[in-house]
Amino acid sequence: MSASSSMRPVLPTDILARKGSEPLVVLTAYTTPMARIVDRHCDIALVGDSLGMVLHGLPSTLGVTMEMMILHGRAVVRGLQKAMPVIDMPFGSYEEGPQQAFRNAARLMAETGAPAVKLEGGQHMAETIAFLTKRGVPVMAHIGLTPQSVNTLGGYKVVGREGEADKVMADALAVEAAGAFSVVLEKVPEGLAGRITQRLAIPTIGIGAGVACDGQVLVVDDMLGLFTDFRPKFVKRYSELGQTADEAIAAYAAEVRARHFPGPEHAFPDVLPAKGPKS
Ligand code: KIV
Repeated sequence: MSASSSMRPVLPTDILARKGSEPLVVLTAYTTPMARIVDRHCDIALVGDSLGMVLHGLPSTLGVTMEMMILHGRAVVRGLQKAMPVIDMPFGSYEEGPQQAFRNAARLMAETGAPAVKLEGGQHMAETIAFLTKRGVPVMAHIGLTPQSVNTLGGYKVVGREGEADKVMADALAVEAAGAFSVVLEKVPEGLAGRITQRLAIPTIGIGAGVACDGQVLVVDDMLGLFTDFRPKFVKRYSELGQTADEAIAAYAAEVRARHFPGPEHAFPDVLPAKGPKS
């Protein structure tokens, strides 16, 4: 039975138990209405810090704050009955050390109601992940391309080709040993992602990491065609909602300018029509 087929909320331990069985389905969500839809189909609703770029027009995820994550985290938690919310720790909220990370992870969990957080980094974050997991904070790790390090990585590149493969494998083993309940592999070459998936006892969740991972995640606005500023190769568009919205708004604007909207059916008469006799 998949974690998502039971009516009780999915927990980090359910995600761990899914290793090697039915693929985990993960999408981002940032609002209550989208969370309600994601809840019907997914195991995890990730409140990703991608919301900074997707919803707030920021040039990267670096300007995302704790307040933004809490606001959107609360909205998503309100929309979920079954899928597990996971909240991203924003840039600057955990890198100083385990104590800072615990303080902010506890705040994200307490103020949103989410049972887990995600943070970026491999071997250098292992001590922090161990500190959090030993104190009741389930952690989803994130390795490979870590967008919060875009300035040191030199762009949104594939991470793990040739000489880098051993480092990415070591990152995966380190976050597992530290107690992470799952790990996101972003833009990792598919062969390496497959080898990591085989080697680890925790589920791998791929984004641009091939089909061998234990699950997949996409940014929901990317796959719906709502966020079109970038189109990475790994995004499959399942809809073109941005174009549909553009057409609908153009039709509204034309009808308002032509005084075709509102029609009588959208207006309130000054006098209510008399009710006819009952037949
Ligand atoms: O911020 C985000 O949405 C993410 C996913 C793309 C994995 O970290």
